[in-house]
Amino acid sequence: MKVAVVGTGYVGLVTGACFTEMGNHVVCIDIDEAKLDRLRAGEIPIFEPGLDAVVSSGIEAGLLRFSSDIAESIKDAEYIFIAVGTPPGEDGSADLQYVLAVAKSIGEHLKNYAVVIDKSTVPVGTADKVHAEISSQLALRDADIDFDVVSNPEFLKEGAAVNDFMRPDRVVVGTNSEKARQKMTELYSPYLRSSDRLMFMGVRDAEMTKYAANAMLATKISFMNEVAGLCDELDVDVENVRRGIGSDSRIGYSFIYPGCGYGGSCFPKDVKALVHTAEQSGFEPTLLAAVEKRNNSQKHKLFSNISGYFKGDLKGKRIAVWGLAFKPGTDDMREAPSIVLINALIEAGAQVCAFDPVAKETAAREFPEQWLADGQLQMVDFQYDVLKQADALVLVTEWKRFRQPDFEAMKELMNDAIIFDGRNQYDPDYLKSIEFKYSGIGRNN
Ligand code: UGA
Repeated sequence: MKVAVVGTGYVGLVTGACFTEMGNHVVCIDIDEAKLDRLRAGEIPIFEPGLDAVVSSGIEAGLLRFSSDIAESIKDAEYIFIAVGTPPGEDGSADLQYVLAVAKSIGEHLKNYAVVIDKSTVPVGTADKVHAEISSQLALRDADIDFDVVSNPEFLKEGAAVNDFMRPDRVVVGTNSEKARQKMTELYSPYLRSSDRLMFMGVRDAEMTKYAANAMLATKISFMNEVAGLCDELDVDVENVRRGIGSDSRIGYSFIYPGCGYGGSCFPKDVKALVHTAEQSGFEPTLLAAVEKRNNSQKHKLFSNISGYFKGDLKGKRIAVWGLAFKPGTDDMREAPSIVLINALIEAGAQVCAFDPVAKETAAREFPEQWLADGQLQMVDFQYDVLKQADALVLVTEWKRFRQPDFEAMKELMNDAIIFDGRNQYDPDYLKSIEFKYSGIGRNN
């Protein structure tokens, strides 16, 4: 089958490359020529495990190509995916200008029937707008060409995106067209372990499903962060509570890990956009607004624990940080809790020395160059180097390599052996037994 994917960001690139795995011919389209050249050479602009191998094998098999020419690229396409960004506007709403610009180009250049697929996360009603834009462009050139617009949201997790695409829990397709339904079944069937994993529904239902899924997961995290705050007050260890409630199959263990707040390009943006959609429609989003509020305050939790320990005086203190990316397995720094923490530490007069296995370069762009130049913020290449003369260590991102460190060696390097564990990775009793001070999230300390 012939597939065109517009937008070679994280979603578009994973989608395009993974479709070639089943023998489809895919063209990935972008306006950024320099990026396209790198991709043609098999160079992947993001850190995503396994993606480079899928892209390279697609190119070698002659199934994957990259182009900036949308007119030429969509002329024979049976499927046209729109996978461009929907950044949040100032009021939190999703900015649809890039999606609608692609719709305009499709209307200008479409030659034959195609299924146009909204892959970007877009508010309820967007497929109708895309349909209207394509129709009006076709009318302008007096072209009578049939097409369908369907909603097919992605549920890929960064760091596990290739696996999520190849073995999805479900594929959601919003459409009321029988023709589009058949085409989407043909395209996705090879990826499904059973046919009931392909779910058809109304277009607006599919658009809402995407937001509801992310908002539900964000709610679980904020709920657990709130419980953790209460545990701190009540002399309770939230880790025992987590195990106690997770074992209830109705609740489950996933997404109930308290921490230093959720980040990334999806949860913060999607919760804000849903709050905005609700407000626009005259509905008061009480719970969703609280989810966001809890997360914003949770991102300050580590700083307040550290500041409390040093009795508010952080001047001249040297703080070591393990982990910068918003979660393990990625170099993505968008909305990362480490940004809030490091800004607060440096503004309070501390010096910060940080290590992340892959996010050093993306992280450097998040902070004033001056901080790096004059050494207030250092980023080093080895995990134990941050500890030299450190007055405290903060674990922000739970990369596996931080799980079982050599605590005895760490004690030797540090001025003061204390860990602020932003992900509850360590055993407080064990650390206390080796005279390492410990402060977690919701662990009564
Ligand atoms: C999320 C969803 O999990 C995907 O299903 C969705 O497709 C994607 O957004 C998207 O909309 O594109 P992602 O942002 O890659 O994926 O990351 P997650 O693994 O969901 O983690 C999000 C944040 O929640 C991270 O900062 C993580 O540290 C935090 N988190 C997660 C917790 O604090 N506690 C938990 O128990 C789980």
